[in-house]
Amino acid sequence: MPAWLDKIKVTMTAVEDPAERPLPRTIEEIIERAQQRLSEPDAAYIAGAAETETTMRRNRDALDRLVLHPRVLRDVAEIDTSTELLGHRLRIPVVLAPLGSLRSIAPGGGLDVVDAARTFSTVAFVSTVLEPGFEAIAAATGAPKVAQLYVRGDAAWIDAMVDRIAAAGYQALCLTVDSAYYGRRERQLRAGWTPPSGEDLERIWQARLTWASVERIRARTSLPLVLKGVQTVEDARLAVEHGVEVVYVSNHGGRQLDHAAATMDVLPGIAEAAGDRCQLVVDGGFRRGTDVIKALCCGAQAVGIGRLVAWALAAGGVTCLVHALELVELELATAMGLLGVRSVAELDRNYVERVHALGPIDAPT
Ligand code: FNR
Repeated sequence: MPAWLDKIKVTMTAVEDPAERPLPRTIEEIIERAQQRLSEPDAAYIAGAAETETTMRRNRDALDRLVLHPRVLRDVAEIDTSTELLGHRLRIPVVLAPLGSLRSIAPGGGLDVVDAARTFSTVAFVSTVLEPGFEAIAAATGAPKVAQLYVRGDAAWIDAMVDRIAAAGYQALCLTVDSAYYGRRERQLRAGWTPPSGEDLERIWQARLTWASVERIRARTSLPLVLKGVQTVEDARLAVEHGVEVVYVSNHGGRQLDHAAATMDVLPGIAEAAGDRCQLVVDGGFRRGTDVIKALCCGAQAVGIGRLVAWALAAGGVTCLVHALELVELELATAMGLLGVRSVAELDRNYVERVHALGPIDAPT
């Protein structure tokens, strides 16, 4: 029995949560169960994207336009899905993307997110607007975690936040830069979802950010810096020139600029231009093991999952989020074996090819 299969088999038989129905067997069931449990406004808050939601659909479409080319007869009895990001070993190349305002979805909010990340052995990105706040969340876990910063004040405010994040024990700082303004998410507007009070007041500071702000943060802290929301080769190059360790290719899951390019369409160019000088994370529509493989083939070290985290928490709390990660791990290991690779380091452009779209996409959104 291969070690990875043995590990997953044990996990798969030990996942019955006594307080719950048996845990879902597939990612799609997790999403369905979440949708049954969420209020209409919360469901729209999680699933929605900006305006026509074209960016979100493009993210998924770009993943589905990639085919995999398996190699055969390579002895894939042992498979290692782990990787390294920011000096930390991850069980699979999947991190938990920053999500704000989760209280009505998961009572523990950020405590649940970091709990699941620690249990599964991956890194959680902790949003500025994730309850109960940076310090309380950091105090709850010794596991590696990254603080995601939205700027809500002047240079002195930034300095103070950077110091707070370092003092709280975060291993890296992630500045989100695709959010100069809040995208018009029409699904959530129509469903009546309202952000927690006060959240809108100081957004203008985010619009005032420039590369000088990145320089200031770089000079203020020795923590590794992640820039989230990079979508062009030019900005990836600038990020590296400004001392950023991780370029996080993201369009916020299509929640900000509508009609932006799919992240998987821009990733290869960014990897070619900057991939040897920084690590790359990508997100937007990632749900399955094969999605993760495609990102790694195109030059990313890891992918972020956003909505899937919220859906899994809604479907069954920390247990279900850990289980969702186990399902992705199972899919990833199976697909790696079928592709003819034993470790993620072997994945490269030779295993993927961009082809035509498959027509209507019936993957979960
Ligand atoms: C987000 N995202 C986000 N990003 C960020 O930098 N700070 C934040 O506070 C939030 N909050 C947030 C809430 C919710 C409900 C969602 C769905 C998303 C964006 C997130 O980090 C990530 O970029 C996308 O979610 C990735 O796309 P998928 O995986 O959701 O398709």
